[in-house]
Amino acid sequence: MSESGEPLVHGGEIYPAQQSDLLVALERAVRLRTGLRPRIGIVLGSGLGGLADAIEVEAAIPFEELPGWPAATAPGHAGRLLFGHLAGVAVVVQQGRFHLYEGYSAGLVVQPVLLMRRLGAEILVLTNAAGGVNPDFGAGTLMIIADHLNLTGRHPLMGPNDDELGPRFPDMTDVWDSELRAGLRRAGTAENVALAEGVYACLTGPSYETPAEVRMLRTLGADAVGMSTALEAVAARWSGLRVCGVSLVTNPGAGLSTSALSHEEVLAGATTAGPRLARVIARFVEGLGPV
Ligand code: HPA
Repeated sequence: MSESGEPLVHGGEIYPAQQSDLLVALERAVRLRTGLRPRIGIVLGSGLGGLADAIEVEAAIPFEELPGWPAATAPGHAGRLLFGHLAGVAVVVQQGRFHLYEGYSAGLVVQPVLLMRRLGAEILVLTNAAGGVNPDFGAGTLMIIADHLNLTGRHPLMGPNDDELGPRFPDMTDVWDSELRAGLRRAGTAENVALAEGVYACLTGPSYETPAEVRMLRTLGADAVGMSTALEAVAARWSGLRVCGVSLVTNPGAGLSTSALSHEEVLAGATTAGPRLARVIARFVEGLGPV
């Protein structure tokens, strides 16, 4: 038990076939607080909570006030859902997320994006802080995610399926939607913010990579590495959401610079470049038009 009396380990696996009942309870809890029907879901990663300042908030729900959800533990993660409008568009914003490295199941990690879908969202925008694996992607690079490598050894769709939610063998050819990526590029141009594009490799963490692992990831075709996002993208696509995302490179990957990595450096990098990313996302959302 933790000091507050909460169990330290949070539940077990959640199979796809179990999500529906849990989502019904989550939706009910949200609907007691807001009737807003979001068109777009946005997930804000480490240190990227600043975008929330641009939202006209109608309701803010801390994770721990929703059934089955623990409070966010990762530093730099506020841990709440915001419902409101961004550039006139109804949005739900997840400030902070659940990670495998916190000991959570893949099923819990993806539950927030499945909830967004259930609440009415059609488009999902994922963001994260990442290490640069491509030597050209230094700190401050914003990288549109063109594709990903799920190297966690975990998968949110393992176990009995629920065909009502999504197919047993979902196609992932276009998980990172090419039209939405074009929309992000247009938003970058309009905001005069340079956007790179590349492949995001997802590992579990919580340690940062070794220099040999970063070299391996480069060989495998990765441009950036982090500890989130891939499982959410897969589950979101499965559930019918159209998915896009941007990684904010906060540091060169291990071995690509002389300094040691720290979470403080990651948060500082996100704080510096975060406002640029916020502008791109606000413009992207605006480009999708009001509802
Ligand atoms: N590795 C993994 N995750 C990260 C990194 C990194 O270098 N930087 C920010 N998140």
